[in-house]
Amino acid sequence: MCISSCLSMSPHTMTLLLTCTLFGVGYGQLNCSFDILINNLSFPSLSIRPVKNWRTATEIQIEMALYNIIDLDTSLQSFTTLVWFTMIWNNEFIQWEPQQYCSIEKIFLSNVSYWQPDLYIYERIQSEDKSPSVPFYSIQYNGLTTRAMPLRIVSSCTVDVFKFPFDIQKCNITFGSYIHPVQQIFMYTSLNSAEVLSSTKSVIVTNDNWDLLSITVTNNTLDIKGEIYSTVSYEITIKREPAIYIITLIAPACFMVILDLASMFIQMDSGQGLGFKITIVLGFSVLLSILNTMLPTSDMVPVLGIFCCVVMAVMVFSIMESIAISYMLILSKSQSTVPSWIKTWILRYLARALFFKEKFFMEYGIKISQTETNVNPRVLEEQSMETKRKPQNDKEDKMVKKLLKMLLQEVKKIHDKIVDSNDMDDLKTEWHAVALVLERLVLLIYLLTVAILFAVVLIIWLT
Ligand SMILES: *[C@@H]1O[C@H](CO)[C@@H](O)[C@H](O)[C@H]1NC(C)=O
Ligand SMILES: *[C@@H]1O[C@H](CO)[C@@H](O)[C@H](O)[C@H]1NC(C)=O
Repeated sequence: MCISSCLSMSPHTMTLLLTCTLFGVGYGQLNCSFDILINNLSFPSLSIRPVKNWRTATEIQIEMALYNIIDLDTSLQSFTTLVWFTMIWNNEFIQWEPQQYCSIEKIFLSNVSYWQPDLYIYERIQSEDKSPSVPFYSIQYNGLTTRAMPLRIVSSCTVDVFKFPFDIQKCNITFGSYIHPVQQIFMYTSLNSAEVLSSTKSVIVTNDNWDLLSITVTNNTLDIKGEIYSTVSYEITIKREPAIYIITLIAPACFMVILDLASMFIQMDSGQGLGFKITIVLGFSVLLSILNTMLPTSDMVPVLGIFCCVVMAVMVFSIMESIAISYMLILSKSQSTVPSWIKTWILRYLARALFFKEKFFMEYGIKISQTETNVNPRVLEEQSMETKRKPQNDKEDKMVKKLLKMLLQEVKKIHDKIVDSNDMDDLKTEWHAVALVLERLVLLIYLLTVAILFAVVLIIWLT
């Protein structure tokens, strides 16, 4: 409008000229719109790599900061992360002088119109892209194009749960081009591992389950059938937060073991020990079912699983011992003596090996001699024989002797009865002794197994 009015102006009207000069300044201001810049730029074809000589490789600079570790699924072996990702490359066909365009140095465009590298994440296992969409990229006057976007990556990751819940996992994320070999697209990162880690630490949102330990970045190449592809790979090392597992699994399991150990000291003939132990095993199996939901399902069995299995086995073993002992106590009511092989092996050798004190042998040894022979009456008889040898052979003496013998027999009977009833009450029979020895043996085996188990598990977890 101004141009037409200026062309048609009459040279005599000075005021009009003045206004036209002013309008001309206004016209210059219109160069500040992005539209003019876009319309005046000649863009290369959308789908072709923007190089003037096809032999030139497009160099793509990659930057990544880990924003969030969303999940590490041990059964699917998948690692889900949200990263902030940036690619920078040069578009040789785009160039403008910022002075000509009102000092515009950079424009932001929606990603429909330009070539961009075919970014491929090699470990990605989910095709559906749930990344937040930020479809813009920026172009500088010298052709440097930046594509920055958040990426939600579900990648495959080999999870090793052997040390669960004290495990450290390493997952890789590799960026590269899927179709362009290294002669066409060269990917690299200018940041080293320490810089990536520090930029990540400044943005990362902490996850309750996982702690970021380190990020290692490397420029890599991938050789596929002689064709070499340029890649950049990030190795992310994370550590599981064990606190929740210690509180909900490991500590209760240890308490159960201690309880089971304590139950060994319940008086064995009361019959309550067995019920108590079974209750503990029930409680432990509840714990096991919780563990089952928490434990990562993977072909490698975690140490914690083995630990629980052995603890269960030990508990069952101690229940078996309780049953055996209660059976022995029943036996002791019907039989006062044990088979001779048990006597030699268990009561003599095993008891010695298990450091039973002399008192034990005395207590049960006396009983054994009582049932075998009654020494005291014999001594009495011998004494009476001695009296026989004396020359006095009166009838009265004979009568007295007979009476004495009868008396002796009666006393013996009463004595035996008292001994029998004592056996019933105190259960101080040989079976009882066998039960005591076995109980100590099982306690020893139990303690040894649990101690070795704890030591092994601790060593595995701490190394
Ligand atoms: C638009 O581009 C042409 C050359 O393609 C140039 O001569 C002209 O000055 C440019 N226009 C502006 C406003 O810069
Ligand atoms: C990757 O390569 C680029 C260019 O070749 C180099 O500047 C950078 O330091 C390399 N990065 C690493 C981590 O090796």
